[in-house]
Amino acid sequence: MTAGDVRTLTVRAAAKINLHLGVGAVRADGYHPIDTVFHAVSLFDDVSARSGTEGAGPVLDVEGSDHVDLTEVPLDSRNLVHAAATRLAREERRSPDVRIGVHKSIPVAGGLAGGSADAAATLVALDRLWGLELEDQDLLRVAAELGSDVPFALLGGTARGTGRGDVLQRVDDRSTWWWVLVTSPQGLSTPAVYRRFDELFPTAPARPTSGDAVERAVHSGDPVRLARVLHNDLEPAAFDLRPGLADLVSRGEAAGALKGMVSGSGPTCAFLCADAEAARAVCAELRETERERSAADARRRTVLVTTGPAPGVHQVAYERR
Ligand code: C5P
Repeated sequence: MTAGDVRTLTVRAAAKINLHLGVGAVRADGYHPIDTVFHAVSLFDDVSARSGTEGAGPVLDVEGSDHVDLTEVPLDSRNLVHAAATRLAREERRSPDVRIGVHKSIPVAGGLAGGSADAAATLVALDRLWGLELEDQDLLRVAAELGSDVPFALLGGTARGTGRGDVLQRVDDRSTWWWVLVTSPQGLSTPAVYRRFDELFPTAPARPTSGDAVERAVHSGDPVRLARVLHNDLEPAAFDLRPGLADLVSRGEAAGALKGMVSGSGPTCAFLCADAEAARAVCAELRETERERSAADARRRTVLVTTGPAPGVHQVAYERR
């Protein structure tokens, strides 16, 4: 690289939902053992890393689509993008001087692993920008150190997750599944939802419920079959913390979705639809009902059509000047 040479790499990462989320009793380390089927959907954040900046540590700049509330997004080491850049630089014994721009379309604290997606994208962007050429297993290891959902964000597609969600096995998924996502104006804290789970289910078994049935349904390619087995052990806790969510799930099903559920720790809800046409109809009806219900509230729910499986972290742009 010559002096003044600035390169910018843009990397994209998808949101995830959980087709199955079995949760066992809390472990001594504070984490819960889970058996999950992760599924990446076509809602993306973009992370741009720019070389040639000078200063102490990573400098973050975050912007978002209209439906994304950025007020709770920190720009310091509490941000997973900052943490990812700092950790990778330390491992590689290099300066973390880099400017990182994040464009968010994934709602913040929405149960869609948006922060994890940003961290995974940062790892890949910096691996390329810094010419590290890390092996997949090294990237996955650093990802797991950053958060339980970060390894899946690297991988994308559909995958079984065990341990605390960081031990992954790809699931063969040749279908296109149609989902309507409904965001909430206010996020939910993942640790708070897990704590409520502990209070609601003090005798939860150590071993989480199995995702086998969901994996088989994914293989079948039949949305009606998948709808019958979608399952989320955190849903009662999210319903308890946000009473309006249970009604929202009922409204989506009444609008024609095969099945509605809370995504991960919530509050985003995901509605499986039979096909593209059904998804567009459910989306239109939910937009209408949500508009009527929240006429006086500027911070409305956002209703989106997405498909899965979406790809894992991938580069979308490179610029050199
Ligand atoms: O791994 P991550 O930092 O994303 O997890 C955030 C929090 O969510 C943890 O501190 C823990 O409270 C909770 N969690 C859990 N069991 C998991 C994953 C996350 O209790 N398997």
